Amino acid sequence: MLQGRRILLIIAGGIAAYKSLELIRRLRDRGMSVRCVMTKAAHQFVTPLAVASLSEDKVYSELWSLTDESEMGHIRLSREADLIVVAPATADLMARMAAGIADDLAATTLLASDKPVLIAPSMNTMMWAHPATQANLAILTSRGVNRVGPGAGDLACGEVGSGRMSEPAEIIAAIEGHFAEVALAGSDKRLAGRRALVTSGPTREPIDPVRYLSNHSSGKQGHAIAAALAALGAETVLVSGPTQEPTPTGVTLVPVETAQQMLAASEAALPVDIAVMAAAVADWRVDREANQKLKKDGKGPPMLHLVENPDILATLSRRRNDRPSLVVGFAAETENVVGNAVAKRQRKGCDWILANDVSPSTGTFGGDSNTIHLVEAEGVESWPAMTKREVATRLADRIAATLGGPH
Ligand code: CTP
Repeated sequence: MLQGRRILLIIAGGIAAYKSLELIRRLRDRGMSVRCVMTKAAHQFVTPLAVASLSEDKVYSELWSLTDESEMGHIRLSREADLIVVAPATADLMARMAAGIADDLAATTLLASDKPVLIAPSMNTMMWAHPATQANLAILTSRGVNRVGPGAGDLACGEVGSGRMSEPAEIIAAIEGHFAEVALAGSDKRLAGRRALVTSGPTREPIDPVRYLSNHSSGKQGHAIAAALAALGAETVLVSGPTQEPTPTGVTLVPVETAQQMLAASEAALPVDIAVMAAAVADWRVDREANQKLKKDGKGPPMLHLVENPDILATLSRRRNDRPSLVVGFAAETENVVGNAVAKRQRKGCDWILANDVSPSTGTFGGDSNTIHLVEAEGVESWPAMTKREVATRLADRIAATLGGPH
């Protein structure tokens, strides 16, 4: 699995840089090509000559060196890699990555890249525990950066605690894990032959030709779920209100504005095996949209008479002949998360509810991460905090396991 893979190894300036030499040797032994970028500080710990000898390639360090830029610009450095490994990842380099600073070749290469990144942090235990480093780590994690370590133990600085860079064997195991995941993502088609419907985004309920009622839903979670189902081979229709999210590859988008349009488009997509209702549907609409723009007529503000919108989740859950095999809804809660979600599952008649805590302190709304409790008839399973993409992958995996193989 590792044979022929191209690793771009970024070595930052930490005492653990000596372990990077061993890492290079082991990666080469497994048939991978390793191209190395060293920060200036890394030169204090290992010599470019040793790195070049073990990697059997030139070592790159200088952003402004004419030869480095003419022979191998920073764009090409990352373009020609399958995975970027930062080992050791120092507190300083992690901070620069999180902030998007591009002040040397290592940081510029990382910023100018869309390749997967694995970091192996290494630093003094106080630096690791510092809120600044932990905040930077949270940013990097939310952007999909993978991490191995650090481990705990005696540190070179004489202290004991967390901050010790993972051993080369552990880093290689993480690299293997990464490539296994990539291979799985490409070949796992457990939902081939299945049809899926996903709703996403907000709805807009018109008041008059220029005004509407809506909410702040970003569509991130719903779109990620459509992408994950399609990646597993499901023929996926995404019925979405207006969002900034790109349409995922292999997904058929049906754009809508109002809840009534969303219901009609969802019913038109039937029959489906899987329905995931992730849209933030406006609960109410104005009973009669004004034909002309409402004017200030001196008689005070207009009265808006609201009527309830159809509940798409409940409607699909109660379909008789063509009810989807699996209907999944969401519950956004700020208190008694699980208790409310259990009641909601029964009220709406769906199979699963993904309950998420949207209290302001969780940063869920509009953010990239989500803490989920999966409520099924059999019980409740709490998932650790993860990105919305990870929630989508885990949900799709769960759906595939439940429906049991290609249709
Ligand atoms: N839903 C829907 N159609 C609606 C309203 C909600 O399909 N008209 C779906 C949502 O897509 C989501 C779930 O129902 O899957 C959320 O239910 P809802 O009753 O809106 O719950 P909350 O948003 O959690 O709000 P509340 O607790 O106020 O009921």
